[in-house]
Amino acid sequence: MPAAAQWESYFQADGILEALGCVRLSGDVAEFGCGYGTFTIAAVRRVSGIVYATDIDPLMVGATIARASRAGIRNIVVEQRDFVSEGCGRPDQSASYVMLFNILHIEDPVGLLREAFRVARAGAIVGVIHWRHDIETPRGPPLGIRPRPAQCRAWAEKAGLRWLMSPQLPDSPWHWGMMFTRPAE
Ligand SMILES: C[S@@+](CC[C@H](N)C(=O)[O-])C[C@H]1O[C@@H](n2cnc3c(N)ncnc32)[C@H](O)[C@@H]1O
Repeated sequence: MPAAAQWESYFQADGILEALGCVRLSGDVAEFGCGYGTFTIAAVRRVSGIVYATDIDPLMVGATIARASRAGIRNIVVEQRDFVSEGCGRPDQSASYVMLFNILHIEDPVGLLREAFRVARAGAIVGVIHWRHDIETPRGPPLGIRPRPAQCRAWAEKAGLRWLMSPQLPDSPWHWGMMFTRPAE
């Protein structure tokens, strides 16, 4: 990851959350790989409950906790955790919103999406963003592992999620986004 200010110059977190349906939600959020807390901090003002964030990197966990503390935010819980081997640590169907932002290039994306499905309650939104592959971008994973939107949609559907829409992301020219939901049984 580049420095936080550099990272956050590539997209607009509030606009992305707005576009991807994280707006005045009741309930909790589960975030996979919070990084600098870019979306964690932006999400807290948009939900009535708690934002539960995990990251494997203790520096990222520390950065997010420090940021929340500086901002006087209380409805954030950040845990150092490997969500691949340990899951996100939240109960089944406990989240109203799940954030999978810049993370689906990992080795087992379907496994991660299954964990997102598990923690999402019926009707919850699962938001996904990633770097575009069809234009030159200033950052992002190598093209060989950078997931395409159609591929992500197929993975998500394999994990049991239903595609809702792929809105434009304001002021975020290097990224695409998608919204999924966990259908009622
Ligand atoms: C590219 S960054 C994206 C951060 C944030 N989602 C954002 O978009 O600003 C990916 C983050 O996921 C974390 N990560 C990668 N693999 C992980 C794993 N298995 N468990 C938990 N965190 C992981 C990395 O440490 C990194 O902070």
